[in-house]
Amino acid sequence: MNDLELLVQSATEAFVAAATPADLENAKARFLGKSGSLTELLKGMGALSVEDKKTRGAAINQAKQQVEAALTARRQALADDELALQLRAESLDVSLPGRRRGEGGLHPVSLTLERMEAIFGSMGFAVADGPEIETDWFNFTALNTPEDHPARSMHDTFYVEGGNLLRTHTSPMQVRYAVQHVKQHAEAVGRGERIPEIRVIAPGRTYRVDSDATHSPMFHQCEGLWIGEAVSFTDLKAVFADFFRNFFETDDLDIRFRPSFFPFTEPSAEVDIAFASGPLKGRWLEVGGSGQVHPNVVRNFGLDPEKYIGFAFGLGPDRLTMLRYGVNDLRLFYEGDLRFLSQFQ
Ligand code: DAH
Repeated sequence: MNDLELLVQSATEAFVAAATPADLENAKARFLGKSGSLTELLKGMGALSVEDKKTRGAAINQAKQQVEAALTARRQALADDELALQLRAESLDVSLPGRRRGEGGLHPVSLTLERMEAIFGSMGFAVADGPEIETDWFNFTALNTPEDHPARSMHDTFYVEGGNLLRTHTSPMQVRYAVQHVKQHAEAVGRGERIPEIRVIAPGRTYRVDSDATHSPMFHQCEGLWIGEAVSFTDLKAVFADFFRNFFETDDLDIRFRPSFFPFTEPSAEVDIAFASGPLKGRWLEVGGSGQVHPNVVRNFGLDPEKYIGFAFGLGPDRLTMLRYGVNDLRLFYEGDLRFLSQFQ
């Protein structure tokens, strides 16, 4: 091997040994740079005869071309490697399962409200909805609770500008719904004819200044109203029995009425239930209030209390939700913690 062949060989080896573009540029400088070995050879030609210059020059140039070709080949190889590496890093496994979007679900109290609507619906109760910002008239006065009535102090009320308030119970919906119903049948009422019964529930949010483990300033109630010509406490007890046994999916459950006072009913009763088995076995649990609608309230419906009679009740959906799922702190429902809420999905 002559000196030029050796040089081409060592240049090729140096290029192949270069692992990065930077190494390759350093190796290139050693052979083709300003003071690289090939450049030095070309510089040394000055001393040669014209004849020798021709042959030697051609040989050096040929060697130079070979070195340049080796350099280009290595550059390409390094670029190819880098591309392959990048492609591998960015590779996409199309056989992987997709990422799912989180699925929302109904809040446990909403589940209860839906359940209540379904069960009462099956007993012929319509479902009504009304304003959460209520007038004093519907929230208190129409419900036989005049301004100086002591019962108003049972309610710590949030008042809003203009004298309106956040409803403290769903009972105003009794009046709103009944008035609407009577209006719809105004002609029959005018002629003294009987009108269809009122049978409605009104679930929704209610507000009171109150906050602890069993009270939240925003909570839920479900109002119920059944007015006809001969609707009695017996019917009320039957409705409750049907409702609670359906709601808790057990017949092993007792219901009792405890005498109480509400301005809008007379007589009035607190409603308690007791399970015959399970962790709460035998304990009386208060779940709502009820009573025969007071004649003054029936009058505010636009009906004659001598002809129309019936009952009303107010149930606590939050309490029912706690009992159904065994939750002991009401505040958990309103903290928005997904670790809690997702357990109901
Ligand atoms: N409104 C009552 C409350 O908030 C609950 C209630 C009791 C509603 C008796 C009624 C009823 O309709 O008849 O405490």
